[in-house]
Amino acid sequence: MEPLNHKSFERVVSQKALQMGNSFPCQICVVGFLCGVCLTSLFMAALTSFGSFQFSPILFSTMSMASNSSGNSTFPNDINKVTRSDCQFKLKETERLEDSKSSREQNNDERVSLLYSAWSAVLNEPTSGGKEHLQKHGISGSSLPHAPHLENCKVKTQLYDYFDKRKGNEVFPPWTTWKGSLQTFPVAAINEQMQNLRHDAVSEGAYPPWIAGSDEENYPLTRKVQRDIWIHQHPLNCSSPDVKFLVTDWERLPGFGIGAQIAGMCGLLGIAINEGRVLVTNYYNRAEHGGCKGSSRSSWSCYFFPETSLECRRRAFELMKSEDAWSKGIVTTKENYTTKHIWAGPTPRKWGLQWNYLQPTTDINGTLLASHRKMDIRWWRAQAVRYLMRFPTEYTCNLMNEARHASFGKLAAEMVLQSLAGDWPKESSGRARSNDIDEYVWSNHKPWVPRPLLCMHVRMGDKACEMKVVGFEEYMQLADRTRRHFPHLNNIWLSTEMQDVIDKTREYSHWNFYYTKVRRQAKINMSMAAYEASLGRETSTNYPLVNFLMAADSDFYVGALGSSWSFLIDGMRNTGGKVMAGFLSVNKDRFW
Ligand SMILES: *[C@@H]1O[C@H](CO)[C@@H](O)[C@H](O)[C@H]1NC(C)=O
Ligand SMILES: *[C@@H]1O[C@H](CO)[C@@H](O)[C@H](O)[C@H]1NC(C)=O
Ligand SMILES: *[C@@H]1O[C@H](CO)[C@@H](O)[C@H](O)[C@H]1NC(C)=O
Ligand SMILES: *[C@@H]1O[C@H](CO)[C@@H](O)[C@H](O)[C@H]1NC(C)=O
Ligand SMILES: *[C@@H]1O[C@H](CO)[C@@H](O)[C@H](O)[C@H]1NC(C)=O
Ligand SMILES: *[C@@H]1O[C@H](CO)[C@@H](O)[C@H](O)[C@H]1NC(C)=O
Repeated sequence: MEPLNHKSFERVVSQKALQMGNSFPCQICVVGFLCGVCLTSLFMAALTSFGSFQFSPILFSTMSMASNSSGNSTFPNDINKVTRSDCQFKLKETERLEDSKSSREQNNDERVSLLYSAWSAVLNEPTSGGKEHLQKHGISGSSLPHAPHLENCKVKTQLYDYFDKRKGNEVFPPWTTWKGSLQTFPVAAINEQMQNLRHDAVSEGAYPPWIAGSDEENYPLTRKVQRDIWIHQHPLNCSSPDVKFLVTDWERLPGFGIGAQIAGMCGLLGIAINEGRVLVTNYYNRAEHGGCKGSSRSSWSCYFFPETSLECRRRAFELMKSEDAWSKGIVTTKENYTTKHIWAGPTPRKWGLQWNYLQPTTDINGTLLASHRKMDIRWWRAQAVRYLMRFPTEYTCNLMNEARHASFGKLAAEMVLQSLAGDWPKESSGRARSNDIDEYVWSNHKPWVPRPLLCMHVRMGDKACEMKVVGFEEYMQLADRTRRHFPHLNNIWLSTEMQDVIDKTREYSHWNFYYTKVRRQAKINMSMAAYEASLGRETSTNYPLVNFLMAADSDFYVGALGSSWSFLIDGMRNTGGKVMAGFLSVNKDRFW
């Protein structure tokens, strides 16, 4: 048993429970028997492959409740059903391990909890930095170790803001070939010659900073296309009479899922580019909730940086009031185009037929798919969704922090404590002064998640009417296939709306599953719209987006290209340096 799993058990038991006596030894083995099957449904953090010795009686009572509440279990949830010999066998194991478990380890668990809760306090109280909580627990702010799985959202957002604006009359924003915050390294430290070189790099149009990976790891021409879209969407002077606009709301018919809404907007961006219009998006129903404050309410800009500049938005809304602008065709809206046109391929051709050069890295039924009828749509949607999601807002960044903290925070705390020499927090060596290299170089690394990580989006529910629904088993077969080639892979981020799927993860104890804590559909026949309504607007938008971004950044991906959501994830990955990770799909898009 790896120490990791040992620890992960203890995180689910309160410290108090641990201190209680072990007076029902036989119950332990029952729990041991149950653990593989119940735990994943009980605790949202990933807990897998437990041995019996990991359970204390208190946990048992939790387990037993859980198996009651989950209705008729196919597993024995009655203590009497477990035979005595079973018990004795397991008990020996338990004793042996209990003995070896020193008080030092217990102490260590307390420290892990302490560090985890300190980070939680900092996360939940960004303004005070969790000061009160830290003081209460005798932790000085300067001794709190760096949380590797959390991003400094405020700083990150400022940086994105800097990259999304021109300085003065420059054609391009301050993009160079320097990565992230390195670009903001105090200019005074750089001599004049360097400054000029930088300026030249900018004016030659260094590439947009939101593209990761080399050209070989992205769809053809991704960097150039992203740069050109940004320029197209940010004319130098929005008030100039030759700037035309396409102003549109997001689709909001109840039948449109979150993925279909984005896919529709990708089509409209294509039309806007073809007609030389600046796309301006307006009402976004999914952002109409209390989490989206101020001007970001009911707007895409709640989640991602807006598609165009503030000046252009203002100008577009001004023009919408002008009859002259309408009659001259300076402004159009979604209603000026047929649904068919929006959906069926307004792929811009100004960059040539790039889709003819897509690398065949999509696996369907054991074969690489080299071409299909809608290659152009696949390429364009990838470019469009990448552009629309180029920079997450501070709100989205915080959602990601929360999700990572909930799933990986304890693991991170264990890892960090192992790395510290002293007995934190008692013997704190003090947090080393933040060096330039932390601030300008290492800050550009992505926050930590347990890698390699495979993401899986399992869509069932009402999708049956659109595509052949595939069972979870088939997804897992593809995960196992990936693992045969990469045996160090054992983490899965699972995105699904079906409780049924979550329950089935018990059968795969050789994987660690992680998933967001959200109520899932119990009935297979509930419509997606009804399910989303039951979650409420905020949750039903935030949790899929978190899963989406997690999937875009995972090392491997298994999904169903027949679902528009997976199709978009595929697009994000193919413009985010993940082409060579491949894509394992359980089915084809229905139009191919
Ligand atoms: C579990 O089921 C048993 C017997 O069916 C019942 O006596 C007990 O109260 C139940 N526990 C909970 C927590 O529902
Ligand atoms: C549990 O099983 C019993 C007998 O098989 C059945 O009568 C009962 O309806 C089941 N309960 C649930 C919640 O499925
Ligand atoms: C933008 O164009 C308008 C109309 O041609 C002009 O009045 C305005 O001065 C221009 N603004 C800048 C900053 O060049
Ligand atoms: C767009 O639709 C409006 C209202 O139906 C119409 O007045 C306008 O002429 C249309 N514009 C174009 C370019 O077709
Ligand atoms: C998958 O491949 C196998 C063997 O190559 C073939 O028999 C089967 O029909 C294929 N299934 C689909 C859905 O294409
Ligand atoms: C869907 O669920 C409802 C009740 O939740 C049930 O009455 C209906 O028969 C179900 N339909 C299908 C096709 O399973």
